[in-house]
Amino acid sequence: MRQVTLKDKTFVPYITSDKISESVKKLALSINAELKDEFPLFLVVLNGSFMFAADLLKEVDIPCEISFIKLASYHGTSSTGNVTELIGLTEEIKGRTVVVVEDIVDTGVTLEKLVTVLNKKGVKQVKIASFLLKPEAYKKDIEVNYVGMRIPNDFVVGYGLDYDGLGRNLKDVFVLKSN
Ligand code: IMP
Repeated sequence: MRQVTLKDKTFVPYITSDKISESVKKLALSINAELKDEFPLFLVVLNGSFMFAADLLKEVDIPCEISFIKLASYHGTSSTGNVTELIGLTEEIKGRTVVVVEDIVDTGVTLEKLVTVLNKKGVKQVKIASFLLKPEAYKKDIEVNYVGMRIPNDFVVGYGLDYDGLGRNLKDVFVLKSN
């Protein structure tokens, strides 16, 4: 596998598409077994999760629904501080089992905001499926229920993940080359 240059940075091979596919299939098996009676709603968090979600959901064979959301952050009033808005959610999620599909959980700040919004809408339960997790960086209490792979605290691109908008289309995962 070749190394790739995106803007000013060089990335070297890290996880092959074969390994990715193996881990995604395993993850789908757990979801199929554990959520078969839940009729879950998968909420795919754009943009980074599109490739993972496509592969994962082809392997999910239980009755389910799929929707796509984005998180937008803007400054509220001085009393409300930073407000996180959920864009794209048109389904009624009250009382439902929701599975958040994420590309990567790093510090967990994004995830925590999203789970807070979903809980406020009265869901039955929120499960989290993330392709990658950086355990050294993750300090939140929310359990990440389904993890494709755990990786060290390195910056990676490919398989949906980007550096400054680039690299999402790579089918393998690459890691920033250390000099
Ligand atoms: P968190 O809020 O710190 O968990 O960060 C989550 C978001 O940061 C992800 O959804 C990604 O968009 C981005 N991110 C974190 N680590 C990486 C990485 O290694 N490569 C590309 N994007 C990353």
